[in-house]
Amino acid sequence: MIGSQPRQMIAEASGCCSYLIGSKKELILVDPLNDVERFMRPVQAEGSKIVAVIDTHVHADHVSGSREIQRLTGCPIYMHESSPVKFPFNPLGEKEYSLAGCKVQVLHTPGHAPEHVSLLVEDEAVLAGDTLLVRDVGRVDLGRGDANQLYDSIFGKLLKLPDHVEVLPGHVGKAHFVSGDNSSTIGVERRMNPALQMKSREEFLQYMTEGWPPKPNHYEQYIKVNCGLIVLAEAGL
Ligand SMILES: [Fe+2]
Repeated sequence: MIGSQPRQMIAEASGCCSYLIGSKKELILVDPLNDVERFMRPVQAEGSKIVAVIDTHVHADHVSGSREIQRLTGCPIYMHESSPVKFPFNPLGEKEYSLAGCKVQVLHTPGHAPEHVSLLVEDEAVLAGDTLLVRDVGRVDLGRGDANQLYDSIFGKLLKLPDHVEVLPGHVGKAHFVSGDNSSTIGVERRMNPALQMKSREEFLQYMTEGWPPKPNHYEQYIKVNCGLIVLAEAGL
C-alpha cells in the first residue's frame, strides 16, 4: 500500500533515486530512469496507475525515462517552466499543486542546474533532487551549475523548512561519492552536512570549488538526449 509517503527506488549500480508519490490508485513518478519496466511492473501489480511524471531537472548522468513512461501511459511530463527541453511538457511554477491526491509544493532550487525543482510532499518530505544530498550538496561543475544559486536555494529555501522534514535525495552511495544513509531530515543535515556548516556565502563558494569527484562519463551527451536535442541512438552511449 502506497500512502502519501514517497517510495524511494534506488538503481543499485548507479545510486540514482526515483520516487513514487501519491495515493494507492494514482501515482506520480519522479526522476525515472529509462529502464521503465522497473517502475511499471510494481505499479501495475498493485493495480495503480502513473498519472504524471516529474523530472526535477535535466539529468547529466543517465537517460531520463520520462518520455518512455509518457509513451506507455499517456501521462503528462512536468518540469520547471524554465526547462530547456525541446519536447512538450507541463510547466511547473513555484507554487502548490494537487497531484494524484497529494499536496506538492514546488520549490525552484537552481544551482546544480538552472531549472532544478525540489518537491515538498504533504509538508513532510522534500524530494531534493541534486540540490541537497545526504551529507553533501549537488555538484555545480557540469556546465550548467552555479554555486551562488545553490547557496540561495539551500540556505534561502530548503533550510527554511522545519527540522522534521524528511530529505529524499536524487543520488545516494559510492557511485556519487556520497556516503551514509539513503535519506535524512532537514534537522540532521543542518547539523551534520559539512557543506551546510559554512559560515558565509564566501566560505560556501570556496567549499564548492574543491574536492569534486570525476565527472560522469558522457555527461554532455546525456544532457543533449534529455533535452530532446538528439536521440539516444545518436548519442554513442
Ligand atoms: Fe543531476
